[in-house]
Amino acid sequence: MPIVTSKEMLKKAYEGGYAIGAFNVNNMEIIQGITEAAAEVRAPLILQVSAGARKYAKHVYLMKLIEAAEADTGLPICVHLDHGESFEICKSCIDGGFTSVMIDGSKLPFEENIRLTAEVVKYAHDRGVVVEGELGQLAGIEDDVNVSDEDAHFTQPDQVEEFVARTGVDSLAIAIGTSHGAYKFKPGQKPMLRFDILEEVGRRLPGFPIVLHGASSVIPEYVQIINENGGSMPNAIGIPEDMLRKAASMAVCKINIDSDLRLAMTAGVRQALAKSPSEFDPRKYLAPGRDNIRQLVKHKLINVLGCAGKA
Ligand code: G3H
Ligand code: 13P
Ligand code: ZN
Repeated sequence: MPIVTSKEMLKKAYEGGYAIGAFNVNNMEIIQGITEAAAEVRAPLILQVSAGARKYAKHVYLMKLIEAAEADTGLPICVHLDHGESFEICKSCIDGGFTSVMIDGSKLPFEENIRLTAEVVKYAHDRGVVVEGELGQLAGIEDDVNVSDEDAHFTQPDQVEEFVARTGVDSLAIAIGTSHGAYKFKPGQKPMLRFDILEEVGRRLPGFPIVLHGASSVIPEYVQIINENGGSMPNAIGIPEDMLRKAASMAVCKINIDSDLRLAMTAGVRQALAKSPSEFDPRKYLAPGRDNIRQLVKHKLINVLGCAGKA
């Protein structure tokens, strides 16, 4: 099974009422933990690489590690650029073997977002690569953001048909109240997503795959292990899993997860080092982090995304 695009995966996910997991990768242990979990439950996979990941590990190392994982597991894997900021980075990833790119023009005015996204789509489609665009900005949790400011950041459903038609994107990321990182809501704030917006976007774009960024649940067990073993992450809070399951049963076909992987890895490393303070063989503390990632991803694929058995 070669490295594939996400076209078929997302189409089947839409029809089947489930979502594909898009997991961020930065090193070998993360790639192994994710792909071993997916192989165990036969789930299709999107592995995504940010600009920061390319800077940390180098494009060629990540590409070769993912090719190794594909050879090892036989799984269909899509390799995706996460949050591409410019035409140049998208081009570099397409030329370097990625099968999918995100051009994130969400901070640009509508017309500029369309122009940049359409330029990337042209280059990508000519080379058999698919493109994710974004409309709307993910929420932050700054104290001084008032309700009308927040509303301004959500995706406006009346823009989505024009954006998709004029850019030719293959999938669209929208903002309905998720955010990046481990602190998605203020202490005491009730987690809330704008399912009304998702429903309206789905109605306007029948059959079209929607993407949810910032979708880590910030698993409390891992936060607790980190806090009990020398870390300090008070008030870390994520998106409840039942909300993600609901989104996956609607038009959301790709769910992005990075922070939960970081927490699982960090919990494993901290616990191992706390147990054996004199340990200095990296394999002894990275392996527990990799095991945590494998368990976490299996749980997500089976219980949250619903894509186990769909490869
Ligand atoms: O959405 C962002 C991802 O979590 C990647 O984060 O830019 O620190 O690699 P990064
Ligand atoms: P989290 O920080 O919620 O894991 O989101 C990751 C993401 O959206 C990557 O694009
Ligand atoms: Zn994101």
